[in-house]
Amino acid sequence: MKGVICAGGLGTRLRPLTLVTNKHLLPVFDQPMIFYPIQLLKAAGITNILIITGPESAGDFVKVLGDGSSMGCQFTFRFQSEPGGIAQAVGMAEDFVGKDKVVICLGDNIFSEDLSEPIRKFAASKSEAGLFLKSVPDPQRFGVAEVKGNKILSIEEKPKIPKSNLAVTGLYLYNGASLFDVIHKLKPSGRGELEITDVNNHFVKAGKAEFHQLKGDWSDAGTFESLHRASVMARNRKNGVSQ
Ligand code: G1P
Repeated sequence: MKGVICAGGLGTRLRPLTLVTNKHLLPVFDQPMIFYPIQLLKAAGITNILIITGPESAGDFVKVLGDGSSMGCQFTFRFQSEPGGIAQAVGMAEDFVGKDKVVICLGDNIFSEDLSEPIRKFAASKSEAGLFLKSVPDPQRFGVAEVKGNKILSIEEKPKIPKSNLAVTGLYLYNGASLFDVIHKLKPSGRGELEITDVNNHFVKAGKAEFHQLKGDWSDAGTFESLHRASVMARNRKNGVSQ
């Protein structure tokens, strides 16, 4: 299985910090943010990792991560010249992933629990997409899943009136053999981006998406409030405080 970390974007909501460097290199407690998705992938045995970012802070990424050998990984970098949405960034991983199974992580998502088991199960399953849902108090900030039993009925991106409180987190499992065909057929959304939610809805409609509901904590880290929350989560996890 391969890993892809999406670490692009301008991080405008975190200015002036992101005038210093890319959002994904800012501190979350005692480590640069991007270390957390790297550790999540490593825990699942995935060390062959593509990092997709913008060209602005390319040198900083190389300074912090090098080729990955000091972390027991092999890193490949690709640079997205214009931000065009998460699905567009994922599309840049086509040659790297080929027809393998892949874990895509948004580089600003921090998880408190070990997810290696559902990732390994997916690798051996016939599912085409695996999603991780988390019950949150502010679902309108995220992709929101409507669920019945063990099936997702639909996903809405940042709905004004959410149908549930289940956010679709930024950790996605796919099969490269079908993922890129879906991305090639996507059309830009109202905000002019290729949406990962449209990719997921394709697999939901085809009945080929499975999901796992998170028990532990999860946070994104793209705003000052969520960045702070992510740091507290990381500190608690390190100090063995249950959450
Ligand atoms: C993205 C996705 C959204 C998902 C979220 C998780 O939103 O579009 O579906 O719930 O990541 O962090 P963004 O944070 O890029 O607005």
